[in-house]
Amino acid sequence: MPDKTELIVALDHPALKDALALVDELDRLPVLYKVGSGLFMAAGPDVVRELVSGRGKRVFLDLKFHDIPNTVEKAALQAALLGVEMFTLHLAGGRRMVSQTSAELTRFCNERGSRKPRILGVSVLTSFDGAAWSEVTTAQTGHAASPAQSLVGLVSNAALWGADGIVCSPLELEAVRARFPGLYTVVPGIRPKGAALDDQARVMTPTEARVAGANAIVVGRPVTASADPAKAVADILQDLACP
Ligand code: C5P
Repeated sequence: MPDKTELIVALDHPALKDALALVDELDRLPVLYKVGSGLFMAAGPDVVRELVSGRGKRVFLDLKFHDIPNTVEKAALQAALLGVEMFTLHLAGGRRMVSQTSAELTRFCNERGSRKPRILGVSVLTSFDGAAWSEVTTAQTGHAASPAQSLVGLVSNAALWGADGIVCSPLELEAVRARFPGLYTVVPGIRPKGAALDDQARVMTPTEARVAGANAIVVGRPVTASADPAKAVADILQDLACP
C-alpha cells in the first residue's frame, strides 16, 4: 500500500465559473483538480493558469495526447509551463512518442529548475467492451485482442518508454500493482459507500482503492453533484487516511 493516496476532484464542468465556484468551496482541502477536455475546450489553458498560479492549486491535466512525437513533446512542454503536476498521453502512441516526450520534458524541466510533471499513460479506455475493442484491434492488425491482452502489453511498455504511471480502472488495479509495482497509479471509477453509481459499472470505495494500492483516486459526481461538496471531500479524505 502506498504511504498516501491522493484525492483528485474531476472538474467536469461546462463553464469556468462553475468549476472555480467548486474550487473556492473546497478551498482549504488538500486535493488535486482534474481538468479534462470538456472544461479545457470551454475555458482554454487559462483554466489551468487560474488554478495553479491564481489559486495555488495542484492540477492533473487529462487531455490524453496522441499524435506524432514532435507534437506531443511540444504539448507536454506547454503543460509543464502551465505548472501541471501530471498529464495523460495514450501509450498506443508508441515508444518514440512516449520516450521523446519524457526525455525532452526532463531536459526542459531540469534547465528551468522546475519539477517535471508526471507522465501518465492511458492504455485501453474502460468504455471499450470486448467486442468494440476486437473491432479496433482487428482493423489494426487483422487479429482480435481482448482489452486485457492489450492492457498488459501497453502497460508493460509504460515504464520502459519513460512514463511515470498509468490511469487504470479499479478492476485492473490489483494486477497492475502486482506486476508493475513501480508505476504511479491513478484510478477513476471510485464511489464512496452508498453513493450513486451514475454510469460507472465497476467501482471501488476510496478505502478499497487505497488498500489495493492506488496512488491517487479520481472522484467526480459524488463531489460535484453533492449538496455539500466540502463535506463529501472531507469524508473521502478521512476514508483515505484510515490505515
Ligand atoms: O463523476 P465520476 O466520478 O464518474 O468521474 C470520473 C472521472 O474520471 C471523469 O472525469 C471521467 O471522464 C474520468 N475517467 C473515468 N474512467 C476512465 C478514465 C477516466 O471515469 N477509465
